[in-house]
Amino acid sequence: MPASDPLLERRRVASPPPTDPQTRAEALSVAARALRAAEHVCVFSGAGISAESGIPTFRDAQSGLWAQFTPQELATPEAFAAHPTRVWQWYAARRAMVRAAQPNPGHQALVTLASRVAHCTLVTQNVDDLHERAGSRDIIGLHGSLMRARCSAGCPGTMVPTDAMALEPPPCPACGALMRPDVVWFGESMPMPAFEAARSAAVACDVFLSIGTSNVVEPAASLPWISATHGATVIVVNPTMEGQRRGPSILPIEGPAGVMLPRLIAEAFAGRRARRHDSGGAAASRGAGAQDPTVDASVDAADESTPPAA
Ligand code: APR
Repeated sequence: MPASDPLLERRRVASPPPTDPQTRAEALSVAARALRAAEHVCVFSGAGISAESGIPTFRDAQSGLWAQFTPQELATPEAFAAHPTRVWQWYAARRAMVRAAQPNPGHQALVTLASRVAHCTLVTQNVDDLHERAGSRDIIGLHGSLMRARCSAGCPGTMVPTDAMALEPPPCPACGALMRPDVVWFGESMPMPAFEAARSAAVACDVFLSIGTSNVVEPAASLPWISATHGATVIVVNPTMEGQRRGPSILPIEGPAGVMLPRLIAEAFAGRRARRHDSGGAAASRGAGAQDPTVDASVDAADESTPPAA
């Protein structure tokens, strides 16, 4: 029998998990098998993956000075038009917080994952740069980046704000209009090329790995279900499954990403070497064929007592 028949492989990966996993250890084991067999994994991350790096999730209350404002007073085109300095300063404060934070083991586990599977697409709703700094490449960012600014009047191109705590939005060098954070605000559409690329990956992948997202903001929230409809196994990693859809091809792994992802990747790829990828991705930068210590770490599948991060 040929080593890998793409159609058979696809059916094997895409078929619903053989048993309804009763425990987290069972869910990890079923998810690990699906990942090991997958040719194409689509990872979809949200704010929860950065929670263990100390970046509050979007739905957490604003703290300190910013607690007095609602998200609509800080993250809408109307807020920027009315109070550009306030909005700019809020983003400057968030940028400074992200620059002081470090990627966590969840981000790092995804770099290992990309080096072990033939094709891995990373789609994120996050505007921090922790995936990039962990070493992930070719990331599809649906909501822009805190680290860039662009012209509020639409001139092409972006700039990197260098003075993290600049008090005022700088003028666009081309037209003099104010520069604004290059993020997608409430009431704005996400960039369609990025969404189309994410949708294509959701349709084509064997395994869709949804991490740390509440799945409430459309159209991104539909991606896991689009993927499930097209036959993928959907793995959901989150400390709470409240609000997450359930279904025969959906595998919930309840727990914080920084703990669960390294366990999952270790269980899936223990002893398997990094693949040689053509493009300069994570595997290439680490040296193709290199053994990754995170993958050989023993998997303590029996430890069910780790408390989820708040
Ligand atoms: N590991 C994994 N998931 C976690 C962790 C953790 N350590 N901590 C929290 N979570 C989960 C929460 O349970 C929640 O489901 O992360 C999710 C964060 O949800 P949101 O704050 O809604 O973030 P996200 O889903 O990325 O939001 C999408 O909506 O609010 C807008 O524009 C904002 O980009 C954001 C978009």
